[in-house]
Amino acid sequence: MLLRLALGALPLIGSALAQTGGAYVDPDNGITFFGYQDPVHLVQYGFSFPPLVSTGSNSTEFIGEIVAPIATSWAGVSPGGAMLNNLLLVAWPNAGKIVRSARFATDYVQPTAMTGPVLTDLPSTKVNSTHWKWVYRCQNCVTWATASGTSSIPIGGFGVPAWAWSNIAVDTPSDPQSTFQEHTDFGFYGLDYSQAHVSAAQYQLWSTGGTGGGTVTTGPTSTTTTTGPTQSATPYDYIVVGGGPGGLIAADRLSEAGKKVILIERGGPSLGFTGGTYQPTWLKGTNLTKFDVPGLFESMFTDSNPFWWCKDVTVFAGCLLGGGTAINGALYWLPSYDDFSTKAGWPAAWNNHGPYTAKLSARLPPTDAPSTDGKRYLEQVSNITAQLLAPQGYSSLTINSNPDYKDHVYGYSAFSFLNGKRAGPIATYYKTAIARKNFTYKQYTNVLNVVRNGPTITGVKTNDTSIGGNGIIPLNPKGRVILSAGSYGTPRILFRSGIGPTDMISLVQNDPVAGPLLPPASQFINLPVGYNASDNPSINLVFTHPSVDAYDNWANVFTNPRPADAAQYIKNQSGIFAAASPRMNFWRAYSGRDGNVRYMQGTARPGAASVTTSYPYNASNIWTITVYLSTGITSRGRVGIDAALTARPLVNPWFVDPIDKEVLLQGINDLVAGVNNVPGLTMITPDNTTTITNYVNTYDPANLNSNHWVGTCSIGQVVDVNTQVIGTNNLFVIDASIVPSLPVGNPHGAIMSAAEQGVARVLALAGGP
Ligand SMILES: Cc1cc2nc3c(=O)[nH]c(=O)nc-3n(C[C@H](O)[C@H](O)[C@H](O)COP(=O)(O)OP(=O)(O)OC[C@H]3O[C@@H](n4cnc5c(N)ncnc54)[C@H](O)[C@@H]3O)c2cc1C
Ligand SMILES: *[C@@H]1O[C@H](CO)[C@@H](O)[C@H](O)[C@H]1NC(C)=O
Ligand SMILES: *[C@@H]1O[C@H](CO)[C@@H](O)[C@H](O)[C@H]1NC(C)=O
Ligand SMILES: *[C@@H]1O[C@H](CO)[C@@H](O)[C@H](O)[C@H]1NC(C)=O
Ligand SMILES: *[C@@H]1O[C@H](CO)[C@@H](O)[C@H](O)[C@H]1NC(C)=O
Ligand SMILES: *[C@@H]1O[C@H](CO)[C@@H](O)[C@H](O)[C@H]1NC(C)=O
Ligand SMILES: *[C@@H]1O[C@H](CO)[C@@H](O)[C@H](O)[C@H]1NC(C)=O
Ligand SMILES: *[C@@H]1O[C@H](CO)[C@@H](O)[C@H](O)[C@H]1NC(C)=O
Ligand SMILES: *[C@@H]1O[C@H](CO)[C@@H](O)[C@H](O)[C@H]1NC(C)=O
Ligand SMILES: *[C@@H]1O[C@H](CO)[C@@H](O)[C@H](O)[C@H]1NC(C)=O
Ligand SMILES: *[C@@H]1O[C@H](CO)[C@@H](O)[C@H](O)[C@H]1NC(C)=O
Repeated sequence: MLLRLALGALPLIGSALAQTGGAYVDPDNGITFFGYQDPVHLVQYGFSFPPLVSTGSNSTEFIGEIVAPIATSWAGVSPGGAMLNNLLLVAWPNAGKIVRSARFATDYVQPTAMTGPVLTDLPSTKVNSTHWKWVYRCQNCVTWATASGTSSIPIGGFGVPAWAWSNIAVDTPSDPQSTFQEHTDFGFYGLDYSQAHVSAAQYQLWSTGGTGGGTVTTGPTSTTTTTGPTQSATPYDYIVVGGGPGGLIAADRLSEAGKKVILIERGGPSLGFTGGTYQPTWLKGTNLTKFDVPGLFESMFTDSNPFWWCKDVTVFAGCLLGGGTAINGALYWLPSYDDFSTKAGWPAAWNNHGPYTAKLSARLPPTDAPSTDGKRYLEQVSNITAQLLAPQGYSSLTINSNPDYKDHVYGYSAFSFLNGKRAGPIATYYKTAIARKNFTYKQYTNVLNVVRNGPTITGVKTNDTSIGGNGIIPLNPKGRVILSAGSYGTPRILFRSGIGPTDMISLVQNDPVAGPLLPPASQFINLPVGYNASDNPSINLVFTHPSVDAYDNWANVFTNPRPADAAQYIKNQSGIFAAASPRMNFWRAYSGRDGNVRYMQGTARPGAASVTTSYPYNASNIWTITVYLSTGITSRGRVGIDAALTARPLVNPWFVDPIDKEVLLQGINDLVAGVNNVPGLTMITPDNTTTITNYVNTYDPANLNSNHWVGTCSIGQVVDVNTQVIGTNNLFVIDASIVPSLPVGNPHGAIMSAAEQGVARVLALAGGP
């Protein structure tokens, strides 16, 4: 029972090595690992090291993982690459847990316990019905004693780790030091350990059980010498990049028109009907996932396994089918006239949004009573908000029945849910597109850049080299590319394609992987991509009222819901779980001293994400009003990338203009002036130890974010009236980034109307396929 991992005979190092490990981010924990998936048994082996240092001493530890299909009885890895005189790590599942140990062998016999290494299991270690997964920290693991001295993992150079695999159970599964028979298979792969290091801060976080923040910035860590024929990938009339609301509407309408369309999405499935399977135990036996159930919205922010967030964007962004609409609060407002006005930055030709909004609402009608029984649940907050606003001259309205009326108005929260479930563009536009022969959907595929010959785009470069042609998906003659990767994702693709401000393209040029993929500098196109970014500043006010059921701030909805509510929802998609947390919305217009009209929006919900108060209070009665500044905001920020090509705000867009802050302060002061008139109502955050002005002035800027980013490829600045990127022949953008100013309500309704209009213009534009 030996692991017959090869010894001196390692002829494979270097160019002959066909299989080379690279960087990947584990979706379960957001850790960047450097490793390899054995293509036969589909076991993933990864390592991640702290940074190399030039003074002091290099760290002697690393984190690693083995993720194995359940058919794997045990698996092992030798980071040093041989069986003898090397650290060997072996693991297997037993009774739902991972059993593991560090071993050492000096001869081709059973490896025995190794003293020295200290193993700690990290939180995403698990056994489920299809896989087992061991994620570990290995301390005192880089250098070890051998009979002839010491041996080390080559942390600063190229190595050839070995793996061993067996489908025969170990002799005593409960015993970490169990004996076992010789592995049934083994292999090697190349790994450039010099690239397998992460920042000290990331390592510190992950090695102590933290998650998230992982990025793949360096791409494959070594070039693979692949020989043999490369097939060329299928060409398309239209390549749509990104499966958010913009991309889904574009791809659906293009395929409906008979075009041959591929939609490329970097993430995986969301709703159950799209293949999604992520669900809490209480939904087992149904096809409902976390993403289907509206009442699970608040748990998006408290989940221990939030694989859906884009790990290379520093603000919340959904990287899965549906983009933001798979994970958002789904507050859904049909746009107002002002949302598409010339004043808001739209070309005059876009002012009449009516026909496009009508197309949208025909496919996806809004509802302010999403429960299938038509009843409203947990409505105490609506009642109190109405008592607060009515005396201030507000009137009650079904908001979407008169989208142009947004001054002194309140109404029930409206959503893009259908049949008591999350719908948005996924259960509508995607559903019809996927049924068409002319529509191809490719998920888990990252588009790195467009491939172009000067102003003419010829295809897109993806990270999937298995499709041939170096991962490039080509266009048919006269074909077009539509970028719909969102307000952060689209700018990044443009920068990586040599389109944007010089400082951003320079960062790409300096990147060892992305730099060489840029076109020649003579073909760069200088456009203000990323400028004029806008997002609603928002401030939370927390209240208590004895009639309110705070619903435990939604804390247990995923893991341990109230049984009757869960049962009712499973039965027929009715009840509390058929809506997201908001219950009431309101708007009021203000004139600023600069003469501009700005709107305040409020969203009221049971529960509160955080309370800061000196008052005693009953946590069962807390509720929140989020106050936003919407239409009329004059502040702008800037979105870009950093040296790691992570997309991030470069200049925050909130309160850059002090008049924006003045107006929001005025709105908040007016709102809270009525609190004492409502019996039983108390504002606990802020409390009486601070003023509203002080509260707003000291608000954590990161918490001002509303996740409503628009404007980074504004129409008229970066794209023309037909959504075509200025200076190109056949590149278009259809997503939130072209929207030049924030709409009056939460934006996905206006973004989808814009997508309907944008794709109609692209189809009507001569010269296409
Ligand atoms: C937490 C949160 C809550 C929100 N709540 C609301 C709300 O209640 N109401 C509302 O109206 N709006 C809300 N929003 C905003 C709304 O969801 C967004 O405005 C909207 O989704 C933007 O649409 P989009 O098509 O521009 O981009 P996105 O929805 O971001 O979609 C972009 C898609 O492109 C994919 N992609 C990105 N880069 C690449 C690449 N290189 N290759 C391939 N695919 C790529 C992404 O995975 C994603 O699927 C919320 C947003 C968030 C994050
Ligand atoms: C089990 O876990 C693995 C690894 O995280 C994951 O890929 C797989 O989808 C999970 N299976 C199920 C049924 O959830
Ligand atoms: C850390 O390791 C690297 C790679 O082996 C080496 O170049 C460097 O000198 C080491 N640093 C120290 C302080 O020993
Ligand atoms: C698919 O697209 C091709 C070429 O664009 C077109 O000729 C054909 O009619 C389309 N087929 C369908 C079913 O729409
Ligand atoms: C789940 O979906 C599958 C495939 O669409 C269907 O056959 C099955 O009946 C559904 N199950 C439930 C419980 O809805
Ligand atoms: C769904 O079930 C609940 C609880 O039994 C019931 O009150 C409600 O009327 C039902 N709704 C529909 C649409 O059948
Ligand atoms: C609020 O609730 C009270 C008591 O249930 C009720 O009398 C009142 O009409 C409600 N007010 C509004 C504005 O809904
Ligand atoms: C491409 O990137 C996506 C998203 O990061 C990832 O899920 C996928 O595994 C990658 N594909 C390849 C072939 O590396
Ligand atoms: C930014 O917006 C302002 C006001 O709408 C406009 O004048 C300016 O040209 C825009 N700049 C860019 C780079 O989009
Ligand atoms: C807090 O509120 C809950 C729900 O209204 C109520 O049952 C409970 O008695 C209150 N607790 C106190 C200490 O008042
Ligand atoms: C704030 O309110 C609390 C509770 O009503 C009261 O005891 C305290 O004196 C007040 N403090 C100030 C500074 O007004």
